[in-house]
Amino acid sequence: MQEQLELLIKEAEQEIDNCSGVNDILNAKAKYLGKKSMLNGFYGKMKELDAEQRPAFGDQLNSVRKQIETLLSARSKAIQESNWEKSRVDFDPSMPGISLRRGGYHPLSIIRRQIDEVFISLGFEIAEANEIEDEFHNFDALNTPKDHPSRNLADTFYVDGGMLLRTQTSPVQIRVMEKHKPPIRIISPGRCYRNDKPDPSHSPVFHQVEALVVDKGISMADLQDTLQNFASIMFGSKVKSRIRPHFFPFTEPSAEMDISCVSCGGKGCRVCKQSGWLEMGGAGMVDPAVFDILNIDSEIYTGFAFGLGIERIAMLKYNIPDMRILFENDLRMLRQFRGEL
Ligand code: PHE
Repeated sequence: MQEQLELLIKEAEQEIDNCSGVNDILNAKAKYLGKKSMLNGFYGKMKELDAEQRPAFGDQLNSVRKQIETLLSARSKAIQESNWEKSRVDFDPSMPGISLRRGGYHPLSIIRRQIDEVFISLGFEIAEANEIEDEFHNFDALNTPKDHPSRNLADTFYVDGGMLLRTQTSPVQIRVMEKHKPPIRIISPGRCYRNDKPDPSHSPVFHQVEALVVDKGISMADLQDTLQNFASIMFGSKVKSRIRPHFFPFTEPSAEMDISCVSCGGKGCRVCKQSGWLEMGGAGMVDPAVFDILNIDSEIYTGFAFGLGIERIAMLKYNIPDMRILFENDLRMLRQFRGEL
């Protein structure tokens, strides 16, 4: 019996040593430890022995089983490791990798961030509000008459429930003044919507940045100073700015803001249509009627506001001749703007 067991271990040792894959291991395990194995047969013979011989014999069988188990697990670990080795040999670290193209920001996002930074450096905070507005904030509180053409279906996208897609960032002025007492010094960049046909200088979706400053003693000079500061930081110290009389329902007086042409320096070229100036947006002193609606004492406080077109700035900075290019999102164009082509 003793001899038989020793032989069994020898045989198992050899066979397990020759195993080269997981299947071989499983087969060997079944053969040497399974139900039909010789070892299991020996366990069955236990009952033929005298009671006092049984424990020693049982111990012996258990030890054989342990030895075989140890052989199996050692071999299967070795097989696993050699597979690893093989796959490592297949991996050549000197091969060139697959290059992944990096994404990047859209020119409008880049410009928007630059604008944010310029105004933050001038002491402004950033305010935001919803793109879906009510008529009160987009029109009424901005002193816009009920029959004003901008309220027209042909100009404004209305949605259900008396709401609309904001046509300007000016409603953010109202929302800020509803919540905060002066002094106020905010900008609010964001998306606006108008029912315009796309063409080189129009898009039904576009971006503005609103600025609002309200405090004691704010004057038109502060507006001009802020505009000039913005123009110098954004376009360079040689760029001049000016304001011209205009009309908006919520500012009095109202103005339109220009900067000297960044392309020709003011001499006149195709970009500025020979005028030497580029229109940047609307501006003015907050109309006391707006303060009245918001219970801000217009005897004590004055303020200025303006709205810049972000597309305009991006088109000048990136030399983009047609606004629609900014919304087509042709990857080749976007990469070119980022200097990747
Ligand atoms: N909201 C105006 C427009 O979209 C621009 C503007 C902003 C004018 C602030 C005056 C003050 O045309």
